[in-house]
Amino acid sequence: MFIDLLRSRRSVRKYQEKPVEAEKVDLLIEAALRAFSSHNSQPWEFVVVTDPEMLSRLAKARPSGSTFLENAKLAFVVCADIAKTDLWVENASIAATILHLTAADIGLGSCWVQIRTRDHDSQKSASAYVAELLNLREGLEVESIISMGYPAENKAPRPAESLSMGKISFEKYGQKSK
Ligand SMILES: Cc1cc2nc3c(=O)[nH]c(=O)nc-3n(C[C@H](O)[C@H](O)[C@H](O)COP(=O)(O)O)c2cc1C
Repeated sequence: MFIDLLRSRRSVRKYQEKPVEAEKVDLLIEAALRAFSSHNSQPWEFVVVTDPEMLSRLAKARPSGSTFLENAKLAFVVCADIAKTDLWVENASIAATILHLTAADIGLGSCWVQIRTRDHDSQKSASAYVAELLNLREGLEVESIISMGYPAENKAPRPAESLSMGKISFEKYGQKSK
């Protein structure tokens, strides 16, 4: 069941040397392109990166929070055409989430790297840094990068007892019983 995937999934930031097979990359591409979007606007575009040199440069997108891309074997840079819809953030986030969960389903570890609204340094946004590196066309914004690879760390699933049931109300806000 899908819930089992959600129960075991954790963010993975350490990766084995083993590359990700081409068939798995193709599957991830298909998953990304099957992401649902508002009015089927499909504002996203993806840059699939496997080149270690480029991964190393992407790792420097932010002073921290992106450094583990250095050792990733694969990354999907999730971009969106912001002129296509005012809901580009939501649409790009759905695609990123689908990539994340598909990676888990095929035995890969992955982690979200936030790019939108983050700084590269005091002069440049992380988005502008990545856009320059990848030679993105005008009008595309970088939302996130999903780093991937075979996991080199084993993270325990979060137990059911750790779920924040206090965040759930029934019928009206604050009502705690069904
Ligand atoms: C919108 C979003 C942005 C995130 N940005 C980063 C990031 O820039 N760097 C990072 O290491 N992890 C990032 N994460 C991963 C979270 O830190 C992680 O999902 C959270 O701590 C829960 O841990 P888990 O995924 O292992 O359950 C991000 C996750 C989300 C959903």
